[in-house]
Amino acid sequence: MSAPFVSARHDGRVALVTGASRGIGHAIARILAHDGADVALLDILDSVGAAADRIADETGRRTLGAVVDVTDEAAVQAALADAAARLGPVDILVNCAALTTNVDRVVKMPRAAFERDLSVNLTGAFTAIQAALPSMTERGWGRIVNISSGAAEIGGFGQAGYVASKAGLVGLTKTVALEAARKGVTCNALLPGLIDAPAAAAIRGDMRERIAGLIPTRRLGTPEEVGYAASFLASARASYVNGATLFVSSGQELFVF
Ligand SMILES: NC(=O)c1ccc[n+]([C@@H]2O[C@H](COP(=O)([O-])OP(=O)(O)OC[C@H]3O[C@@H](n4cnc5c(N)ncnc54)[C@H](O)[C@@H]3O)[C@@H](O)[C@H]2O)c1
Repeated sequence: MSAPFVSARHDGRVALVTGASRGIGHAIARILAHDGADVALLDILDSVGAAADRIADETGRRTLGAVVDVTDEAAVQAALADAAARLGPVDILVNCAALTTNVDRVVKMPRAAFERDLSVNLTGAFTAIQAALPSMTERGWGRIVNISSGAAEIGGFGQAGYVASKAGLVGLTKTVALEAARKGVTCNALLPGLIDAPAAAAIRGDMRERIAGLIPTRRLGTPEEVGYAASFLASARASYVNGATLFVSSGQELFVF
């Protein structure tokens, strides 16, 4: 007898995405909603409310937008509680909020800027996971997707704080994966390559072209291409994928000549 069919959709599930006002986080929230989830969008930007409304109009799903700084533990906990009260307990957590603009060589990088990268990109994800995980484990189902970066594996010139935070996020992912595995919760990381979204827009035009020349497909990825991978990891179909790091880069990390 064959095993029961498992749907790729998220009907009846509630997702919460941090850093969801724009770019990759917004695309992830939009795709999760298209795939059936009700979605809470968190961001430090005021535009998050309008971003949530746009997704509700387009998909017919329930959404909410909340202005939250992921470094504020009490605010993150309150946002999780508010999402649970208005949409239902959070089943899918996507940590996408990040600072991407701190660029300097190690010897010149101010310590405060390095620590700020860690605080938003790594401790922010830790805080959201701490707030969301107990309810997931109690209910025996959950999906956590952390948006790391290909730079976590290959480094990034002038990006010590960013890269250290994204590599730390991979370690956090694997540890949560181990601790939650027997409770029906998975935790995985996506490692995007160069994606046509705000973080990459900050890169100088000539440098962007040089990098694009090293990408096997010779083009930047789209935020949606990251969103589709996130939606898979967030689905019931990904039940046996845990602690994984998935490049979404068209093979940018491979040897290209
Ligand atoms: N674009 C790329 O090429 C690329 C490549 C690899 C990884 N990534 C990762 O993808 C994610 C999204 O990047 P993006 O290109 O869409 O850039 P982005 O700057 O638009 O995304 C970051 C989002 O996080 C929000 N944010 C920043 N600080 C916050 C805080 N303290 N609290 C809450 N929200 C906060 C920002 O307002 C923004 O909406 C980031 O984690 C980034 O590191 C991007």
